Amino acid sequence: MRSDKKRWDARFKGKGFALGKDPNPFLKKHIRLLPKGKALDLAAGEGRNAIFLAQRGFDVGAVDISEKGLRKAKELANETGVKIHTFLADLDTYNIEKERYDLVANFYFLKRSLIPKIKRGIKKGGRIIFETYILEHRNISSEGPKDRKYFLKPNELLRLFKDFRILFYREGIVKEGGRRKAVASLIAQKE
Ligand SMILES: C[S@@+](CC[C@H](N)C(=O)[O-])C[C@H]1O[C@@H](n2cnc3c(N)ncnc32)[C@H](O)[C@@H]1O
Repeated sequence: MRSDKKRWDARFKGKGFALGKDPNPFLKKHIRLLPKGKALDLAAGEGRNAIFLAQRGFDVGAVDISEKGLRKAKELANETGVKIHTFLADLDTYNIEKERYDLVANFYFLKRSLIPKIKRGIKKGGRIIFETYILEHRNISSEGPKDRKYFLKPNELLRLFKDFRILFYREGIVKEGGRRKAVASLIAQKE
């Protein structure tokens, strides 16, 4: 959506990294559960997770609607000495190639209509790693999205992947960069 692009380009236009350079702690902690190969990072932003995956030997594609975000991601990848493929695209309409990926990563982006496309895009035996806010987040922080539709309901993420084998699931409060967040986190495998 054009308004998403404008909003995120504005957020990413500064010199610093709005979302930091460090990978998401859940991704970092569970990297050993993720099958090496082709990975797709959805709504990759400034690339912190895509670059971490590339450092760990994945062949990574990073999709995002923000040109400014992806430009920073490329720069950080170069600085770090790894390669990532960036795709400037709107995930409202982006076509994920069928059974192409060993791993799909979805961090802090919730588009429910994308879930069937994510599932189709994962190879048999491939995995999804997903983390984003749950409704409870609104009670503990003023940061994060404003609209209720961007928050997961209780057990919603679990239900969305009920046809996959769930390898890890939790809902609760975590700390990232000193900030408290209420999130659901999942790793699941396509059977
Ligand atoms: C909260 S950030 C998360 C970035 C990254 N996943 C991370 O955890 O660092 C949300 C991202 O979604 C992207 N985004 C929002 N709407 C989008 C859309 N329709 N298509 C593709 N990307 C979109 C934004 O540009 C932004 O980079």
